[in-house]
Amino acid sequence: MEKLGLNEIRSRFTKFFESKEHYIAKSHSLIPSNDKSLLLINSGMAPLKNYFSGVEIPPKNRMSTVQKCIRTGDIENVGVTKRHLTFFEMMGNFSIGDYFKNEAIEYAYEFLIDYMKIPKEKLYMTVYTHDLETKNKWMSLGIEESHLVLLDGNYWEIGEGPSGPDTEIFFDRGEEYGGEEAIDAFFNDEEQERFIEIWNNVFSQYNAKKGVKREDYEELPSKNIDTGAGLERWCLIFQNVNSIFDTDLFQPIIKEIEKISKKTYDNSTPFKVIADHIRCITMALSDKANFGNTGRDYVLRRLLRRSVRMGKKLGINDP
Ligand code: SER
Repeated sequence: MEKLGLNEIRSRFTKFFESKEHYIAKSHSLIPSNDKSLLLINSGMAPLKNYFSGVEIPPKNRMSTVQKCIRTGDIENVGVTKRHLTFFEMMGNFSIGDYFKNEAIEYAYEFLIDYMKIPKEKLYMTVYTHDLETKNKWMSLGIEESHLVLLDGNYWEIGEGPSGPDTEIFFDRGEEYGGEEAIDAFFNDEEQERFIEIWNNVFSQYNAKKGVKREDYEELPSKNIDTGAGLERWCLIFQNVNSIFDTDLFQPIIKEIEKISKKTYDNSTPFKVIADHIRCITMALSDKANFGNTGRDYVLRRLLRRSVRMGKKLGINDP
C-alpha cells in the first residue's frame, strides 16, 4: 500500500465524500453545546445528535466531518496497546434520513478498496448477529464469507440518543502481530493486536433511553447513517508501523519528550502516555476547557496528573 501521511489521509476522506455530494462541516469544539449528557465530544455524531433525532434541521441531509474527540473510557489502555488514545480525530460520513445501509456499505467499499487501494484480502468485517442484510450486502460486493464475523456486540450506543446495529471494518496486520491465537480471539470478539478496527458504520435507527431495554427503544423519525474512522489508526496502517506512537503524528511529540527527559525512546509506556495526554490536554485547553475538581475540568486534571506521574518515571521533575 502507498505510504500516506496524516494530512493526506484526512484530505482524501473529505474529498471522497465531497464527490458524493456530502456537505463538509468543520469539527465542532470539544465542548458540547446544549448537551448535558456529555462532558466532552466523544464521536463524530455527538454534535449532530439533534439532526438525527429530528430536533434541528441539518444544512444538508448528507454530511461529512473530521471531528475532534476525547474518550477516556479506555484510558488504562493508552500506552499499553498499540492503538488506544484519549484524543483522536474521527473521520465520518453521515446521512440524516437520506441514504441508508446499502449505499453506506457501497461508499465504504468504494473508499477502502477503489479509492484508498486497500487489498480486499486485508479487510474483515464484523456484523450484528441479527443483521443478515448487511452480511449479504458485503458478500454481494465480493467480500468472502470467511472475512465476515457475526457478533452480538455490534450495536452502537453511547449514552442517550441515536443508536443502532453496526458493521465494523478491520484491517489484518498479518501474522507478525499474532497467529492462530489472534485469529481465534478476533472471531470471539476478544482483545488482540492483529486485526485493528479502522471504521465503524452505524445504522442509526433507534433512540437509546436510560432505563429502557434495547428491544424497546423507539424508532428515530428517520433512518440515519453514522460512521466513524479513527484517523490515527489509518496512519498506523498506511505507514505500516508497529504502534500508533510510531506514526508521523506522534514521532515529533516523542522526540520532544526525549529532549526534555534526556532519555531515548524505548517504546515504553511513560513516553506514550505523556505523548497522548499532552496532545489531549492541548486540544481541550484550546477549546477553552480548564483544569479543576469537577466534571470536564476534572478529566483534564486527571490527564495532567497521570502525565506528571509518568514524567517522574522518566526523571522529569520540573513542570
Ligand atoms: N458513532 C460511531 C462510533 O463512534 C460511528 O461514528 O464508533
